Amino acid sequence: MPRLDNSLPLALDGYAWLPERRRRAGGPFATRLAGLPATGIAGPDAVRFFYDEEHVLRHGAIPEPVQGTLFGHGAVHTLDGDAHRHRKAMFLSLLGPDGVAALAEETAAAWDRAAAGWARREIVLFDEASRVLAEAVCRWAGVDGTLPAADLVALVDGFATLGPRHWRARRARGRLERRLAGLIGEVRDGTAVAPAGSAVAVIAAHRDLNGAPLPPRTAAVEVLNVIRPTVAVCWFVAYTAHAMHLWPHTRRRLRAGDPAYVEAFVHETRRFYPFAPFVGGRAARDLTWRGTRIPAGSMVLLDLYGQNHDRMLWEEPYQFRPERFLTLPPGRDDLVPQGGGNPATGHRCPGEGVTVGLLGTLAPRLAALDWTLPPQDLTISLRRIPARPRSGVVLAVPAVDR
Ligand code: HEM
Repeated sequence: MPRLDNSLPLALDGYAWLPERRRRAGGPFATRLAGLPATGIAGPDAVRFFYDEEHVLRHGAIPEPVQGTLFGHGAVHTLDGDAHRHRKAMFLSLLGPDGVAALAEETAAAWDRAAAGWARREIVLFDEASRVLAEAVCRWAGVDGTLPAADLVALVDGFATLGPRHWRARRARGRLERRLAGLIGEVRDGTAVAPAGSAVAVIAAHRDLNGAPLPPRTAAVEVLNVIRPTVAVCWFVAYTAHAMHLWPHTRRRLRAGDPAYVEAFVHETRRFYPFAPFVGGRAARDLTWRGTRIPAGSMVLLDLYGQNHDRMLWEEPYQFRPERFLTLPPGRDDLVPQGGGNPATGHRCPGEGVTVGLLGTLAPRLAALDWTLPPQDLTISLRRIPARPRSGVVLAVPAVDR
């Protein structure tokens, strides 16, 4: 049975870092990260421990290089308590079932338009999907014109390195924030119009708990916190093709179009493939977790990738088996590719509905498209964060009416 390329020494940097040290310690383990003592934990009970604000807070927990690329300064990710819940409610109001349905419709239309141009070509699926998603989400969010997909991808690609990818991400963030802060200003003074209820309109009008509108740059950061992760769904689109290639029966079943199977396939893609490695916060006070002392102010790391591959939770975790989600929907604190707990009260990703909805829209379309894989390097190195198939998944698409 083919597996992810996990043959490198597990103790090296990357997705294996936290799970391997936890395994060696036989439970939680203490280390140091970015100069602070840190404790790594995982499991459904650990999720509930971690997402309790009496235990773990986010203020001062996110290193500047991650804020300067992935999230932006002043983002919802860095807030705690009432300020967090108030800002979070704004995201959740945008990302409910109606929002997801409208965005999925835009995405299907953008995919169909793009796919019409793929016949008799070799395409890089990762890049094509990023452009499709950028076009759809910008239109849906009320941005005038499409933001460059390459810049949006760069924000995600560059957060976990200090090499060239990182500096590309910082430059991309500067450009994107300037453009969106300008748009927010124009919407506020009436020189531009954003459709009522769109992300730009809602974020431009949002007032924080003190009653003040968000500074334009912070509003731009939060518009990007909707647009950037939606475009990042291209990582999972590339992974779905990888899975369909390695396990061709999944492609046949996706083509049959049973919605329950499609959803199970999407959940298994989110569980199996590497994306967010872990999330971190700072201990609100002196804590103890399963006998390990966690000093106030130290880092607590919740091992998302490790939990999604934990043998205690998943039978044969390194096998790609959508069927595991056919009988039972995923438990709230078991499947954690986008965090755990309650999204309204904690930091769990508010975009899980979007992720599942967009992949549920695109995976059957991809399965139905006639393509083969020319020779290429499909390796997914678990040392690169975020991981991705090295080739970006090149598809050879024949003439349409073959
Ligand atoms: C937070 C993963 C898609 C918006 C998060 C977190 C993770 C995550 C791990 C942090 C949870 C925590 O800190 O405890 C992902 C992955 C995605 C994805 C792997 C797939 C591409 C989305 C989408 C949206 C979105 C589509 C919006 C349309 C957000 C926001 C937060 C967040 C605003 C901050 C929540 C908070 O701090 O309260 N996501 N996400 N994400 N995500 Fe996602």
